[in-house]
Amino acid sequence: MNNYKITLLKGDGIGPEIVDQAIKVLDKAAEKFNFTVTYDEALLGGCAIDATGVPLPAETVAKCKASDSVILGAVGGPKWDDQPGSNRPEAGLLGIRGALGLFANLRPSVIFGPLKSASPIKDDIIGDNMDIMIVRELTGGIYFGERGRKEVDGQPAAWDTEQYTVAEVERIARVAFDLAMKRDKRVTSVDKANVLESSRLWRETVIRVAKDYPEVTLNHMYVDNCAMQLVRNPKQFDVIVTSNIFGDILSDEASMIAGSIGMLASASLSGGKLGLYEPIHGSAPDIAGQNIANPLATILSVAMMLRYSLDQQAAAEAIEAAVAKVLEQYRTPDIYEDGFTKVGCKEMGDLVCAQL
Ligand code: IPM
Ligand code: MG
Repeated sequence: MNNYKITLLKGDGIGPEIVDQAIKVLDKAAEKFNFTVTYDEALLGGCAIDATGVPLPAETVAKCKASDSVILGAVGGPKWDDQPGSNRPEAGLLGIRGALGLFANLRPSVIFGPLKSASPIKDDIIGDNMDIMIVRELTGGIYFGERGRKEVDGQPAAWDTEQYTVAEVERIARVAFDLAMKRDKRVTSVDKANVLESSRLWRETVIRVAKDYPEVTLNHMYVDNCAMQLVRNPKQFDVIVTSNIFGDILSDEASMIAGSIGMLASASLSGGKLGLYEPIHGSAPDIAGQNIANPLATILSVAMMLRYSLDQQAAAEAIEAAVAKVLEQYRTPDIYEDGFTKVGCKEMGDLVCAQL
């Protein structure tokens, strides 16, 4: 029987409560599909600052590297707002992505049928099978570039750098094209090539990589237009590939089209088996500990882990089907509508387990 070693980075705010539900579902899937899981916890973010002084202790990196995969809750909160930038909880998150070489972030935006009415976008615009895969570059660009403070015209000023190498663009483009080959064979590369030199290099490189994928249709879109097109006609997209910062912004937008940011899962991949799986939402410190957070994005992240890192396709599909079924009747407050039964975070986890 396969046994998988999973490192848990529960993090801050609602992180611990949503991860607890996700591992409950994973244990249930393990029982049903005949594999076992052993867990080890490690510190990341604000909780790590409190315990060790830094947001990403070396021990956390070592534990993650020694495991088959990593499940992450969320990091950050007002408590750590006055930490210097390089010691904020978010720096720990960027640090673990960098340390594990997780350059490809997959953020699927899929509409679950029963949730259509929870989307702020009109029914006929969403259609019945909106299914967008945002492929966000995760270890380069302006989030990892040099930055600093200086003085300009006697004024305090600050600067950040957006930079991409050809190799960085090539490898993320290949992830996008490979995914497109298993989907609808369409890739939209999003940039700001009318202004930014880094975007011009991005575009040239994507065009070159596309030659290896003659079956895939490639188009290019400026990021401002893409933000508009996502709400005007989301059905036009299959795979979107873009830089770290543009992917960060566009994936929040795409999550709302799918009903709630509490629904969107993500996979961060390194090219090998090891991946890190996390909801795209934040730590929501305002609702932490109240048993009202939506654990579904984390539960769906576990499904992605089963698919992309652990080769347990059937278990992944079973979890996704269970979530869809539960949504026909039950809702956490963020996606609540009249006529449904309102449940808490823990109850939602129990319902998905029961459905499995
Ligand atoms: C995300 C988050 C992070 C990011 C923050 C918390 C650093 O917004 O995963 O999208 O920008 O990558
Ligand atoms: Mg974000």
